[in-house]
Amino acid sequence: MTISRAEYIRRRQRLLEALPENSLAIVPSAREQLRSRDTYFPFRQDSDFNYLTGFAEPESLLVMMPGRQQGESLLFCRERDAEKELWDGPRTGPEQAAETCGLCDAFPIGDLDDILPGLMEGRDYIYYTMGRFPQLDRRLQSYLAAIANAPGTKGAPEIISLDPLLHDLRLFKSAAEIRLMARAAEISAQGHCRAMAACRPGLSEYHLEAEFLHSCMAAGARELAYPSIVGGGANALVMHYCSNSAPLRNGDLVLMDAGCEFRGYAADITRTFPVNGRFSGAQKAVYEIVLAGQQAAIDHIAVGNHWDQPHLASVKVITEGLKELGLLRGDLSGLIESGAYRRFYMHRVGHWLGMDVHDVGDYKVHGQWRQLEAGMVMTVEPGIYIPAGDERVPEKFRGIGIRIEDDVALMKGGPQVLSSAAPKSVADIEHLMRAGDLVQEALL
Ligand code: GLY
Ligand code: MN
Ligand code: MN
Repeated sequence: MTISRAEYIRRRQRLLEALPENSLAIVPSAREQLRSRDTYFPFRQDSDFNYLTGFAEPESLLVMMPGRQQGESLLFCRERDAEKELWDGPRTGPEQAAETCGLCDAFPIGDLDDILPGLMEGRDYIYYTMGRFPQLDRRLQSYLAAIANAPGTKGAPEIISLDPLLHDLRLFKSAAEIRLMARAAEISAQGHCRAMAACRPGLSEYHLEAEFLHSCMAAGARELAYPSIVGGGANALVMHYCSNSAPLRNGDLVLMDAGCEFRGYAADITRTFPVNGRFSGAQKAVYEIVLAGQQAAIDHIAVGNHWDQPHLASVKVITEGLKELGLLRGDLSGLIESGAYRRFYMHRVGHWLGMDVHDVGDYKVHGQWRQLEAGMVMTVEPGIYIPAGDERVPEKFRGIGIRIEDDVALMKGGPQVLSSAAPKSVADIEHLMRAGDLVQEALL
């Protein structure tokens, strides 16, 4: 299960067709990032570069030039080097890279200064996204300055961001991409199951983080899509909580937001469950509202609906529920229009999902919410977060934070929940956690 060479060629072809005549596009690989002194973070390829090449090495750069016929795609990459390969493992080298990636040609990255300025000269536009790779920005600026100052040339080309063209392609997932995303979601769902089954009072939040990581890695997903969030009790109210170091207390809920990356594609799943395996009455009451809000949002993911409709559907159900619990008072439409619900539900219902966890693609087109189309993948993740110190709400609700997040692909026939293997009804969660207790008792 991978993206085929033919699909990479097709992606480049689509981008070449979208580029104006006499332009040139530049897409660099990611850079290696230092973690400490001479030790690096695990290398992760840039999503744009990976989308267009599938080439996994740093110090690489893709150049694309639309032409009268098919246009041309060239790669610059590291040369083979027996001494370095002895330490760091094999390099593809330009000769093999062109063949592997289905490119027209490939050159050593060390020859960039000799070749790229000549390719840029005489073009009207250079499609390149400034600001992400400052060293390359400066290098390209120096090429442009030299072109502008050279006698007899027509001046330097104009730089235009490549993002809008490229990201519009990435927004629509192919069948192969959806298969990889379904696998990423399935592996992550298994990780959530493992964490739920292992959960018990007295463990710390990072124990659940470790269970999740173990499960994903053992299933072949070596990286996570983002740092896991495991928040027990009121830690669930901290949106970007990631210290994951507090003890898990009997009677609290724990919110776990965790997803793996599988062959370049992200999953993003949140489950909230009771530390001791049984929801209290108050926890269950809030949980059922979030779950109903999520289902309402999923039901509004349909071809032709606009991006905001699922969000509005979740707002309506959650505001009604908060009213029924007595946490909000007043007329429903007034509470929605005034944004009163934001006291407890302060984020939007989701985001695009793909190679990046918060994936690329515009949410509005010409100032209007985007229409949903087949091939788009998004998260659906409403929540209710009740501050621990809010004396306006009954004590039994204070400090409860619940989010339920699934990954949904919009197919021609309707929405498909990719992450459904992670249980989310109260009965299914309690059942899984009871089974987990039995396994642990048998082991002790
Ligand atoms: N895990 C990040 C998010 O849910 O958006
Ligand atoms: Mn998430
Ligand atoms: Mn998310």
